[in-house]
Amino acid sequence: MTMPGLREQYLDAMGIPVWVLRGAADAEPEPAAEGVDEASADWDELREAVRNCTKCALHQGRTQTVFGVGSQTADLLVIGEAPGAEEDRRGEPFVGRAGQLLNAMLAAIHLAREDVYIANILKCRPPNNRDPKSDEAATCTPYLQRQIELLQPRVILALGRIAAQWLLQSDTPIGRLRGRTFQFGAASTPLVVSYHPAYLLRSPLAKSKSWEDLKIVKRLLRPPE
Ligand code: URA
Repeated sequence: MTMPGLREQYLDAMGIPVWVLRGAADAEPEPAAEGVDEASADWDELREAVRNCTKCALHQGRTQTVFGVGSQTADLLVIGEAPGAEEDRRGEPFVGRAGQLLNAMLAAIHLAREDVYIANILKCRPPNNRDPKSDEAATCTPYLQRQIELLQPRVILALGRIAAQWLLQSDTPIGRLRGRTFQFGAASTPLVVSYHPAYLLRSPLAKSKSWEDLKIVKRLLRPPE
């Protein structure tokens, strides 16, 4: 862990947690694919590094990598877990049934899918849609970290337990992470946690809580007065 700066100390004193992605701060960087240094890569170089990535075993089972999609000037970054079968086939995150619900959730706060940026913790599909392993998430995190640096979103929305717990480095149940705002990373980007749309498809009663979370996102995205 790096030493906290004055700002972090103030935030800490005020009880506002500042979360820094593990892997970016603590882990030894993995050698970059094809000589690309993802810590300084531009969008094209980063996409290419992901496309060629063989850093973990998941590359063996993928049809293609799923880099991310959306506006590179988006204010909102949505982060999910990992590609599923449809995403692996099409090379785009959240394109299955859960993706359709995500589009509807965004529309409810007057955002089109094209207005936001959508990425996952993992860029490759885990076999049989199993949960990502923590070493896979750690290996893939520098790519997401660079996406966040390039995008500089005003707000991050973490969807589902896996994304939320990984980004916040917490094992707190999602029900206690949602409904509030965290400060994420060196830029202290406001981060809101909500339920994964795939969970909402199975448990529609949770949609009212998800709506509460989306209203927080909407409020955070409001332009400063
Ligand atoms: N679930 C996710 O978390 N991400 C996707 O891209 C698709 C489904």
